[in-house]
Parts: sequence; C-alpha cells; structure tokens
Amino acid sequence: MTSAPFTPTLAELVAAYRNTAEHNDALHRQLTDATWNDPLLAAHRRHVEQEQLGFGDPAFHALWARLLDAAAEKFGEVRALEIGVFKGQVISLWSLLGRARDLRVQVSAISPLAGQPMPGHGRLLRWLRYRLARRFRERIDNGDFYAAEDYERIVRAHFAHHGLDFGRVRLHHGYSTDPALLDQLRNETYHLIYVDGDHTLAGARHDFATFGPKVVPGGWLIADDAGCDLPGSGFWKGHAAVSEAVRDLPALGFTNVLNVGHNRVYQRNPA
Ligand SMILES: C[S@@+](CC[C@H](N)C(=O)[O-])C[C@H]1O[C@@H](n2cnc3c(N)ncnc32)[C@H](O)[C@@H]1O
Repeated sequence: MTSAPFTPTLAELVAAYRNTAEHNDALHRQLTDATWNDPLLAAHRRHVEQEQLGFGDPAFHALWARLLDAAAEKFGEVRALEIGVFKGQVISLWSLLGRARDLRVQVSAISPLAGQPMPGHGRLLRWLRYRLARRFRERIDNGDFYAAEDYERIVRAHFAHHGLDFGRVRLHHGYSTDPALLDQLRNETYHLIYVDGDHTLAGARHDFATFGPKVVPGGWLIADDAGCDLPGSGFWKGHAAVSEAVRDLPALGFTNVLNVGHNRVYQRNPA
C-alpha cells in the first residue's frame, strides 16, 4: 500500500508546527519522503549525493520548494541570497525550481569559492593546536574547514548538469565580512536569505546581525546547522556555535516559525 503524498504548503506547515520531539521527527521524515517522491527534487538531490556536491538533509529540498512557492506567492518575485555556496547545491536547486515552476527568482550568492583547508602540520601539532588555540578548536568543532578545490569550476559544472546558466546568478565573490562587498550590497534587500557560511559563533552572529536587516518584513531567514536546542532524535542537530548564534534572532526582529532538522526558519516580523 502506498501512502498519500505529503503536500502541505509552507503556510500549512507553519500553522501545524509544534516544537516537540515527536513533531520535529515526524516532519523531518515527511519532508524527506516528499523530496524523494518528487521527481525533480529527487533527481537533483541524488546528483548532489552521488557527486558529493553538498551537505544537509534530503528533507531540505522539499522545504526549499515550499519556501520559494510561498515567497513567490507573497511577493510576486523572489530575491534569494545564499551565504556560503560550497559546491552550489542550494543555488542550483533554487534556479532549477524557478525554471520548473516558472517563478521569478533572482538568485544571489556570497562565497569565496575557495577552500579554507585545515593547516597541515601533522597529527601531533594539530592535536596540540586543538588543545591550545581556542579559535582553531572552535573551527574544527563547528566544521569550518574546506579542502582546497576549484569550487568555481565545480559549481559551473553543477549548473551545466541541469542545463542551468550560472551566469544568471549574482555572485558576490568573497566573504560576508568583506567591507567592500558589504558596501556594494548596502541597499540590497531579499525575500529569502540562507545563512550557511562561517560556522564560528562570531561569524554566524555577524551574518545574522548584518544580513538580518536585509530580509524584507514578512520574508524569511533560514539558519543552517542551528538545531542543537531542538527536541527530536531523528536528525543531526548541527553545530553548537551556530545554534547559540540564532538566539540573537528574536531581538533582531525575527520569529522562529518552523524547524526542519537543523534548518531553522525565521520570519521577519512586520515593520
Ligand atoms: C557548509 S558550506 C555551505 C554548504 C552549502 N550551503 C550547501 O548547502 O551545500 C559553507 C561554505 O561557506 C563558505 N564560507 C565560509 N565563511 C564564509 C563567509 N564568511 N562568507 C561566505 N562564505 C563563507 C565556505 O567556503 C563554504 O563553501
């Protein structure tokens, strides 16, 4: 016997949401199934997994489809920004969904498209550094190192695999802390911002404080890896530093309306 497809909209998910272990686990399972039962989402995620093009859970694909639909319905167009691109899983998915659902989506991204490799001093020196250097320890504990690879080539190939044009992405090449980049973006606003860059406490707090005000009222900020405070046992909870940093968001004018695994969805309060 096949079960009925899980089809609620974002508004329906939010209305039904309860931050309990049972609800979080069931929702994560239902959205995982929703991704694998949707041919477009499943094909995109399968490619990501086979080619090791990204992190996160399959459930997030189904969440993104709902977030883009909700933003398009509410605002007519969707300006979506990702901080921390890695190999382009999310920006390619947004672009694909925009094309497939005929949505007006302008995808923007801030990322160095460069590795931040762990300094290689051999095991003993690395162990000593871990014991003695607080920032090094925080970066290790919060998954903040990335191998040196040609990320731009990989992201371009990722887009090409789906017949998408990477040239349509507004790419801001660099770090979210770069003063010149922030100056370029000073007047920009977005309907969706995905914060998935620097995973240290200071880095995540900086991104929330700097980019939170760029979310239009009623728009959404999604924090990845931020679920350590959530009840539930069916999903990975993320990193301690980012989970601590999201505690700043209510004071920045956001309400936590939904959580899917370690992806936490915050909506900007009305002006
Ligand atoms: C966890 S990965 C992103 C994964 C990607 N969002 C996905 O879902 O596949 C984090 C990325 O953020 C980048 N990064 C680190 N610090 C950053 C910063 N301050 N600004 C922008 N990107 C940053 C890293 O180079 C890395 O590519």
